[in-house]
Amino acid sequence: MTQPSLSLVDTDPAELAVDAIVIGLHSQPDDGGALLPAAGAESIAAAFDGRLTPTLALLGASGAPGEVTKLATLGTISAPLVVAVGLGDEPTGSAPDLETLRRGAGAAVRALAGSGTVALALPLPDDEDAPGVLRAILEGALLGGYKFAGYKTKPQPNRRDPVAALQVHVPDATDAAAAAEVTRAAAVAHAVRLTRDWVNTPPNVLRPPQFADAVVAAAKGTGLQVEVLDFDELKAGGYGGIVAVGQGSEAPPRLVKLTYVPEGVESPKRVALVGKGITFDTGGISIKPAAGMWEMKSDMAGAAAVGATILAVAALKPPVAVSAYLAMAENMPSGSAYRPGDVITMFNGKRVEVYNTDAEGRMVLADAIARACADGTDYVLETSTLTGGQVTALGKRIAGLMGSDEAVELIRSAGASVGEPAWPMPLPDEVRKGMESDIADISQTNSNLDRAGHMLQGGVFLREFVTEGVEWAHIDIAGPSYHTGEPTGYWTKGGTGVPIRTLLAAIDQLS
Ligand code: BES
Ligand code: MN
Ligand code: ZN
Repeated sequence: MTQPSLSLVDTDPAELAVDAIVIGLHSQPDDGGALLPAAGAESIAAAFDGRLTPTLALLGASGAPGEVTKLATLGTISAPLVVAVGLGDEPTGSAPDLETLRRGAGAAVRALAGSGTVALALPLPDDEDAPGVLRAILEGALLGGYKFAGYKTKPQPNRRDPVAALQVHVPDATDAAAAAEVTRAAAVAHAVRLTRDWVNTPPNVLRPPQFADAVVAAAKGTGLQVEVLDFDELKAGGYGGIVAVGQGSEAPPRLVKLTYVPEGVESPKRVALVGKGITFDTGGISIKPAAGMWEMKSDMAGAAAVGATILAVAALKPPVAVSAYLAMAENMPSGSAYRPGDVITMFNGKRVEVYNTDAEGRMVLADAIARACADGTDYVLETSTLTGGQVTALGKRIAGLMGSDEAVELIRSAGASVGEPAWPMPLPDEVRKGMESDIADISQTNSNLDRAGHMLQGGVFLREFVTEGVEWAHIDIAGPSYHTGEPTGYWTKGGTGVPIRTLLAAIDQLS
């Protein structure tokens, strides 16, 4: 995984000696569908002397969001190729919608795989919104260019390597606020790309011990404190849920804790990030059907996201104390696997009656959440590929969000601002009533295996492990963490890195 280099330029875009230059293109609904070059493309449009938009229209461009049209410049400007990316209708405000820009930048950079150096001259307002717009362009460009290295043994003749160097055109390349956005985008994109790599890694290569090793290796030299609990330590420490799920696999479970302490901040707010790290989910004894089971290699996406988030935190150094808890296990059926009917004593002492070993995520998360609360925290922000019910209810792009009012609003607004929507869901009393156990404190799923309110059962269960008074959010990313279709916008195939940018925005809001 090599991330493209990133720099700011303020040279006239028409004179940039790069392999390709990306401009924006708007449609104008009030003008019979005529095309309008977006702000930033003025000098290029001028060099084409009125022929830019007619030629793009001839090539089929419509200005629709995410549409990419390539045009050879034949000497009109320095770059041999102009790439027009559709940004939709001409904006009414000072800049296009941020998500449209993110997706456009991502689509353009991906379409330019095979090019060495690419410049982007996309619309930037000259007001206080500029840093946020620049951030969207930088993040979209860096994430859209991601490609998983893969495992092919022979070089692919038609493989076009991802863009190696990105230049982003700004009014003033020496501007400190713009430079800060470049530093930030590099750290954020590194985190997202690392998560995508971890999620895309096959489950035989990334089992809990290897996953823990990879996270520890990534944390080296960052200043983060690292604690790794192995199987024996988990057993001795009373982590009944992680042990139960992990005991069925030859590859033992792990709990990884990473801690960031801000320097020189007296009693900072404390945030605990918790992630589900099931490196493969067969369902265990309650085994899953074969179809699509391979996708359960992505069942560690929550842990990957929180691990990568705290790496970005270590680089960005916000004035908030952040710790990350990655609960790792492989959910396998075997002679030593936990079973439906088992009663498990969890880290906080509560006893859980197991109904379905495929509801393993909440078992490992409950321990990690309880541990985070025992360590002392103001917020628990937990994310997991927890339920198929999330995908049924909200689809592949919108996460399910449950928790206490303040934390839910924190995550909802943070997610909306970065293009990672999360939709608030209730925690109804009747769903909790359906989880009464005859013999233990709570059952792990509805005691009649009723799938009604399936996603909510997960949230209701996890709430039991959050200490009173701690603000908490549960972000179910079963759908949004993994992209199965063709690449689109800045989403590439496989792991997406959701909800890293949400968590970072939330931490910013608490700063
Ligand atoms: N990892 C799955 C949830 C999942 C499903 C993630 C689809 C991504 C895509 C989780 O461990 C699971 O198996 N959940 C069960 C819970 C049920 C047994 C209560 C489910 O969703 O059916
Ligand atoms: Mn499962
Ligand atoms: Zn799972």
